[in-house]
Amino acid sequence: MTSGPSTNPHRWPTAITAFDEDQILIRGRNVVDLMGTRDFGAVAFLLLTGRQPTPGESAVWNAIMIASSDHGPTSPSTFAARVIASGNRRAPEAAVGGGILAIGDAHGGAGEEAMVFLQEGLSLARRSGGSLRKAAEEVVWNHKSAGRRMAGLGHRFHVVDPRTDRLWSLSQSFGLSGDGIALMREIATVLSEAVGRPMPVNVDGAIAATLTDMGLAPPIARMVFILGRTAGISAHVLEELAREKPMRFRFGFRYDGPSAEQNFSGKRQETGVAAIVVHDKKDAMS
Ligand SMILES: CC(C)(COP(=O)(O)OP(=O)(O)OC[C@H]1O[C@@H](n2cnc3c(N)ncnc32)[C@H](O)[C@@H]1OP(=O)(O)O)[C@@H](O)C(=O)NCCC(=O)NCCS
Repeated sequence: MTSGPSTNPHRWPTAITAFDEDQILIRGRNVVDLMGTRDFGAVAFLLLTGRQPTPGESAVWNAIMIASSDHGPTSPSTFAARVIASGNRRAPEAAVGGGILAIGDAHGGAGEEAMVFLQEGLSLARRSGGSLRKAAEEVVWNHKSAGRRMAGLGHRFHVVDPRTDRLWSLSQSFGLSGDGIALMREIATVLSEAVGRPMPVNVDGAIAATLTDMGLAPPIARMVFILGRTAGISAHVLEELAREKPMRFRFGFRYDGPSAEQNFSGKRQETGVAAIVVHDKKDAMS
């Protein structure tokens, strides 16, 4: 078994998995015992947190992965994956990996940052006698005065993100909701007032508040999103390869940089205005 303390400096310590010829232990549980008795979500939770989820945590965790699993071909990660698959037809794993690289602070990764400000807000509330509204005002003000957007709030399409309420009511039904979710609701109200239009808690923010109340660490918010979205990205990559022609993406664009000294026909340009070139023909992405 490749486990146990070692004084050999060439063996790095890991608390995740050990194996020998006959068995594989994930966090001390035999993988063959987990197979058929646990769902994938529960094992992902075990891997990431080091402990088995309670039945409620397992249901909520799986719901988080389902909520994250897909949002159509135009989300940055899925779009990136489809573009990569259109150019690299022989390595679908490159497209899936490339899609995951587009996940970050503005898309799918905002939950991590949101968990940090929720934790700050909760400790502010504790220090100032427990007013979540006051803590929300301070957190929003801190962001606004620093000119920063609030992670986990706002959405390009949804005025109300349908995943948020479902996740939070599921959480509540298992007795897992608490001040994290309550504070996020206050923050959404305060931010909407400050911005002057509804600022919904998006899926990243919903996950952040849920995981805060489950007592998990901020980086887990990003990881659980990646786990869920990898399923959707994989489906889109396979569809791209099966249905679409190579290099099918063609976008028009408008050049507005400095003008060339000579135009393409070799004549000097008469004005100082940049040549405007619109590419929307067949070779736009060649
Ligand atoms: C998701 C997001 C890109 C959608 O943006 P959008 O609805 O297209 O809105 P716009 O980018 O046009 O922003 C318009 C104005 O709304 C306000 N606004 C939008 N999102 C905001 C946020 N999260 N916090 C504070 N103000 C915000 C700003 O006043 C912004 O004006 P600005 O461009 O001068 O900063 C945006 O809300 C955002 O950046 N959210 C934070 C990152 C995040 O949670 N990502 C996960 C998405 S699921």
